[in-house]
Amino acid sequence: MTSVDMRTPGELADAERWTAHNYHPLPVVITEAEGAWVTDVDGRRYLDFLAGYSALNFGHRHPGLIAAAHAQLDRVTLTSRAFVHDQFADFCHGLAELCGKDLVLPMNTGAEAVETAIKVVRKWGYQVKGVPDGQAEIIVAADNFHGRTTTIISFSTDPDARNDFGPYTPGFVTVPYGNLAALADAFTPNTVAVLMEPIQGEAGVLVPPEGYLGGVRELCDANHALFVADEIQSGLGRTGRTFAIEHEDVVPDIYVLGKALGGGIVPVSAVAANKDVLGVLKPGEHGSTFGGNPLACAVGTEVVRLLATGEFQKRSAELGDRLHAGLNALVGRGVLAVRGRGLWAGVDIDPALMTGREACERLAERGVLAKDTHGSTIRLAPPLVVTAEELDHAVAQLAAIL
Ligand SMILES: Cc1ncc(COP(=O)(O)O)c(C=O)c1O
Repeated sequence: MTSVDMRTPGELADAERWTAHNYHPLPVVITEAEGAWVTDVDGRRYLDFLAGYSALNFGHRHPGLIAAAHAQLDRVTLTSRAFVHDQFADFCHGLAELCGKDLVLPMNTGAEAVETAIKVVRKWGYQVKGVPDGQAEIIVAADNFHGRTTTIISFSTDPDARNDFGPYTPGFVTVPYGNLAALADAFTPNTVAVLMEPIQGEAGVLVPPEGYLGGVRELCDANHALFVADEIQSGLGRTGRTFAIEHEDVVPDIYVLGKALGGGIVPVSAVAANKDVLGVLKPGEHGSTFGGNPLACAVGTEVVRLLATGEFQKRSAELGDRLHAGLNALVGRGVLAVRGRGLWAGVDIDPALMTGREACERLAERGVLAKDTHGSTIRLAPPLVVTAEELDHAVAQLAAIL
């Protein structure tokens, strides 16, 4: 094919012409995908090592998930929560059991689930803990990423996410991630919750020091505050366990879930917690037209079923060891550091060699899709259906560009 016949440049120009420039995508225009692979409009194939920021943990178009979606498309897709539909209870029951919690509240995007958790812990603070009206405080970590709503970016420490979007929502206290002494000092009688990612994804796949999450749990208990774990990116098999927080045998009061819960097909998010927490919500106090719709629940039920087998967690743990061994062998050879757990890695490229963006562009030229973050870090998060050979191939491409 000559460059004149290629569709990619025209598609890129059209996308640029007709959309707000709130993203800076790699110059790849995808038209088809299956498993760990995507194909572009010019027929080139790529290994997808971003997997929709972990929304595609089960790979593109997993047959069981597609079958569940197809079957539901032929029956009923939307009812609103004004009525109950026959997929709702199964999904909520299955997810509650997967989380070991009493109740589930389904929403759509991750940010909506985080907002839901914020509202729930505030209400819990006023109604259960007895915090004076309007005084609730939530402790968050520096370098967090929890989504893009005005309240959530109010406690972001990333200037790009935050600047010029004020006025900001008050009620958040920021501490350095991984520092228990700083966290202990931040509690006040008005603290209702600590909201954290068990591994910080956007920040560069930062794993907290051993014992940190257990320490957060103890401090929450000692201060009668709730521990909210944002497992939207780290959860549902990504790190080799169902939840990343399990690596420290810690159970949060609230799980916040999203991304892979929708099987890469529909946006599905949820908050899971016990009755003493989620029970503070009464009819009319919170909701969503699309949250918990029949199509979302049908796909979500299949996601829960896939996770209940433990197969994906096992794959992620075993193949994750292989990925990390391969990446660690590059340290000192163009890579400064590697972090992560399971099939999730943050790789710091030596900035003297190239930026993270340049590294991702060169990887794409070699048929591997990944995404940079914060200058010189690239994130690798292949679908959990990736094979050992595909992992080795991707690591070899990284070695080649370095
Ligand atoms: C940890 C975490 N929380 C929340 C979100 C927001 O999810 P969404 O983009 O679906 O709103 C993300 C998205 O990257 C995330 O990684």
